[in-house]
Amino acid sequence: MTTACAPGKIILLGEHAVVYGRPALALPVRQIRACAHVNPAEIGSPGQIQVRAPSLGPPVWLEELPDDNPLAAICRATLRHLGHPNHPPLLLEIESTIPMASGLGSSAAVSVAVAKGLAAYFEVDVSADELSDLAFQVERLHHGTPSGIDNTVIAHDRPVYFVRDQALEPLAIGGTFHFLIGDTGIAAPTAEAVAEVRSGWQDSRGEFEALFDTIGDLVVAARNALIHGDPAALGSLMSQNHDLLVALGVSCPELDQLAEAACAAGAFGAKMSGGGKGGNMIAAVSADKADLVDAALRRAGAVTVLPTEVAP
Ligand code: PMV
Repeated sequence: MTTACAPGKIILLGEHAVVYGRPALALPVRQIRACAHVNPAEIGSPGQIQVRAPSLGPPVWLEELPDDNPLAAICRATLRHLGHPNHPPLLLEIESTIPMASGLGSSAAVSVAVAKGLAAYFEVDVSADELSDLAFQVERLHHGTPSGIDNTVIAHDRPVYFVRDQALEPLAIGGTFHFLIGDTGIAAPTAEAVAEVRSGWQDSRGEFEALFDTIGDLVVAARNALIHGDPAALGSLMSQNHDLLVALGVSCPELDQLAEAACAAGAFGAKMSGGGKGGNMIAAVSADKADLVDAALRRAGAVTVLPTEVAP
């Protein structure tokens, strides 16, 4: 059996503004992941692939899936990239512990795991950049103007300072940072929030560009806080970023409540993460306050609280 996995992710600062060319920071979240298993199938003909995934219901043959199905799209893009190798009938099974439509990168992680799994089955080395490019082709199906941050942080599986269409800069983390990820339990497709921001930007371009600029400045300051190992500074910048996301119109009362509860319980700072309108909130905490903040988040309505950390 050939198995390949890819982590979830969280955007630390800079979502939405990143679509408009400003920088953003993101971290892989390895406690949750998507995996793809590739095996010879017991039924079918050479060249066929049977796909089994929770999102599809009963197993289906790849050839039956339309081009805009994300799983079909990543399989086809990867097979094209690998030069359409001959193969016996295959079974591709996908499993994921990353909640869908919640800003944790589930779609990009499935794409990266599938591309990596197929490449490994055919014994072809593919780089993180190639995996990221393949997954990006699929991200385009989810919303028309993805920045590429999700596929990048997940394919590279390391913290990133990301600017769209630019080469990745190395990011050296200067200390240990602890985070709690609180889930509102509200599924919120990124495409809708991205479309709302787009229409706001079209109506009030000056105002939105100014908000994006301020978010970009916070991201640069947050990169320095990461480099210098300063979680208090990072937390304060995250809270400022949350206020700007509220101004962009992409937060919601449940996310605001989680962010407020985290800060009231002693977090360094907190913000919504990802597309918004639901999904997840991330709080920066000290190790000794983590339990208190975790309990406060649950009292404030978080359906799950996931601890994660980043270290040098
Ligand atoms: O996939 P999500 O919900 O984490 O959002 C991605 C971040 C956005 O900036 C909102 C969109 C993008 O393409 O960068």
